[in-house]
Amino acid sequence: MLTGIRACVFDAYGTVFDFASAAARCPDIPDCNRAALTALWRDKQLQYTWLRTLQDRYVDFWQVTGEALDFALDTLDLANPARHAKLMDLYLSLSAFPEVADTLRTLRARGFTTAILSNGSPAMLASIVTHAGLDGLFDAVLSVDAVRKFKTHPAAYQYALDTLGVSAGQVCFQSSNAWDAHAASAFGMRVVWCNRYAQRRERLPGTPDAEITTLAELPALLEQA
Ligand code: LAC
Repeated sequence: MLTGIRACVFDAYGTVFDFASAAARCPDIPDCNRAALTALWRDKQLQYTWLRTLQDRYVDFWQVTGEALDFALDTLDLANPARHAKLMDLYLSLSAFPEVADTLRTLRARGFTTAILSNGSPAMLASIVTHAGLDGLFDAVLSVDAVRKFKTHPAAYQYALDTLGVSAGQVCFQSSNAWDAHAASAFGMRVVWCNRYAQRRERLPGTPDAEITTLAELPALLEQA
């Protein structure tokens, strides 16, 4: 049981929203390439965020996502401007995982503040939240664009504390991305790792306080401040 929690803060991509739903809904991608495209696009997208933050060469997540897609399509011999445009468009209307809306309603009914903290640009996040019908279920949708540093830079996690007016120990942070879960824990937040993809534990600083497989398991783990 996690006690003293005031705010439930969620990572966006992979945690609330299914990034695989872009390639899955693109008719133009051969079935045999969908999984590889999703994995390579995501891997490159994350690598570019880390490398750009390391080099202090920030550009927003929309540009990073487009450049990662360029690399992935090129690698798989699928490069084509119309396909690129279609996939980027689909990235603005990703599906939410099925349990998300009910989980948020339950948490809000119990008085928890709910928020997203994501690398996504403000426009990307506004679009996916609306498309998934989640408007009104988050008290705040926070983009690291405000601090121009991607996760796992501590400034990204600090931004959530400063905006929500809570201490790190009063936040329960949820991410399906193990690297993000470890970093938030090392930063000082309480962390629930939503291990949707049955991944092995990372060997990185920080220790998630709990591990679940879908967000439906979250409310039972939390006790308020
Ligand atoms: C995010 C990505 C990293 O939403 O999942 O920040």
